Amino acid sequence: MCGIVGCILKNNENVAPILFKCISNLEYRGYDSIGLATYDNKINVKKAKGKIKEVNDELNFENMAGKYGIAHTRWASAGRPTDENAHPHLDDTGRIAVVHNGTLENYTELKNKLIEEGRSFESSTDTEVIPHLIRKYVDEGLDLEHALRKTIEDLKGSYAIVAISQDEVGKIVATRKDSPLSLGFGKNGYYVASDSPAILEYARDVIRPKEGEIAILTEDGIVIHDEDDNGVKRKPTKITWTADMARKEGYEYFMLKEINEQPLAVKNTLGQKNNVKKIIEEIGEVKRICFVACGTSYHASITGKYLIESLAGIPCDVVIASEFKYTAKTWNEETLMVFISQSGETADSLTALRYAKETSHTLAIVNVAGSAMWEEADYVIQTQAGPEIGVAATKTYLAQLTAIYLLAGTISKNDEIIDQLNEVPKYIEEAVAKSDEIKALSKRYNFVHNAFYLGRGFSYPIALEGALKLKEITYVHAEGYAAGELKHGPLALINEDMPVIVVIPPGDDYNKTLVNLEEVKARGASVLAVGSEGNEDLKSKSKEMISINPKVPDILAPLVYTVPLQLLAYYVTVDKGFNPDQPKNLAKVITV
Ligand code: G6P
Repeated sequence: MCGIVGCILKNNENVAPILFKCISNLEYRGYDSIGLATYDNKINVKKAKGKIKEVNDELNFENMAGKYGIAHTRWASAGRPTDENAHPHLDDTGRIAVVHNGTLENYTELKNKLIEEGRSFESSTDTEVIPHLIRKYVDEGLDLEHALRKTIEDLKGSYAIVAISQDEVGKIVATRKDSPLSLGFGKNGYYVASDSPAILEYARDVIRPKEGEIAILTEDGIVIHDEDDNGVKRKPTKITWTADMARKEGYEYFMLKEINEQPLAVKNTLGQKNNVKKIIEEIGEVKRICFVACGTSYHASITGKYLIESLAGIPCDVVIASEFKYTAKTWNEETLMVFISQSGETADSLTALRYAKETSHTLAIVNVAGSAMWEEADYVIQTQAGPEIGVAATKTYLAQLTAIYLLAGTISKNDEIIDQLNEVPKYIEEAVAKSDEIKALSKRYNFVHNAFYLGRGFSYPIALEGALKLKEITYVHAEGYAAGELKHGPLALINEDMPVIVVIPPGDDYNKTLVNLEEVKARGASVLAVGSEGNEDLKSKSKEMISINPKVPDILAPLVYTVPLQLLAYYVTVDKGFNPDQPKNLAKVITV
């Protein structure tokens, strides 16, 4: 959740401008506070609560001297967002500086013990125990690397840790457990970062250290030691994304750029067709499928269930990753467990994947090469959305859906659906072109406090996703419901103040959904219908309507009808003056 970067340059330039640039690329991981520590004869630290730009205007990170250092952007977990809780954290001599991502379950116990031993704490974070423990082991005679190794023996929980010490000049040490960390080999120096997109401009050859390994970065290179202190040799992976892909390119916000990139994300993901075929051939007969995911990826999973059950007739479960542990373990070697994640790092999904691996085939549908799930699953379909910076998933969602349609089409040997997918980028483009119309419409949603989204069949997960987009970036309470379920409770909430967005493509379920639309209308709701262009009856029955090309088949609706709902949420957010890329309290990568 927090972002971490460390860098040591080969030349004698100051590292701070590079560190600042890289950590700014990670603002999507957390934006509660920012801090840098560099070494220039001694460790210098600047850190404060606030957004990166505001804090930099105040502190001017870029003028810090020193050729190596570490940086952090925080998503508060233990300890409120304050200046004191901002990283880097120091030991009480100020000679060791640490940045950390993750959560330490036993920090209170460790902290109490360290206080008893006479060490004083300045923050209320879990992280601060780390520099104190390193210091304790250095005082006992260990060098920085081994003091870090001894420290992690004491820690329970998840962590990516990067540390420097004034007593071991020219060295950065790093380690991880259940939190991502990549080592980067650049022309100008060596890098460590919680996400490789942060360092793309400088280093695209990356290695992900394994749990328990310690990486030592110096100006001469990166050395990795395993738990027994043996040197580890591993070939770097080349990241194909470029730094340009992660720039706004004239768009006001990344989210709008990413919505516009959706036709390309889908088109590029269709290129995975042969890979999907190969995977299914290798797995052989699949008797049951279980999708596991969180958030938007969970909504993609529901579409996956409907698709696979209807096309292939294979029973299919969908489980929210954080609930996986509580489900009966009825899967076996004939079950294909599919894990969907844009980041490939989500802690709950990763835990479930590790567990499922013991019995079943595991397939990860992920967007980030080299991510934990990408590395650990038996099979991978990499969605080709490119880097997504906006916290609210958009293009990665449509790319996930594309991968799911390829999977369902391949398993069911339904070439027709795979052929139909080729038309989808064009339909998405048409939907994105409705931007101005939706922008105008959004003005009427600026003052609402609640909203309902309804859909049936393939449109049900669209309703869920539309509601999620609205609530996460506009902070308006929104709920997605299966249209037929509304009368079993929520209908009691419908009145003139309740806008209801009804996703109603043409097809077998149209008439049933229309009945639901009339039910809410009869209770005074103002209805926004997302339906098929030219449907005058629907238009006359709704207060507003967003029209989609009537040629979009019902079964492919999730790939197209989702787009206007993303745009609606986006424009309401911008009108309200909020930043859609960085919704409060949320983060792009949830590693806890
Ligand atoms: C966070 C992100 C969401 C995402 C969810 C699951 O909440 O903000 O956009 O849907 O995590 O993440 P994953 O990386 O597993 O898809």
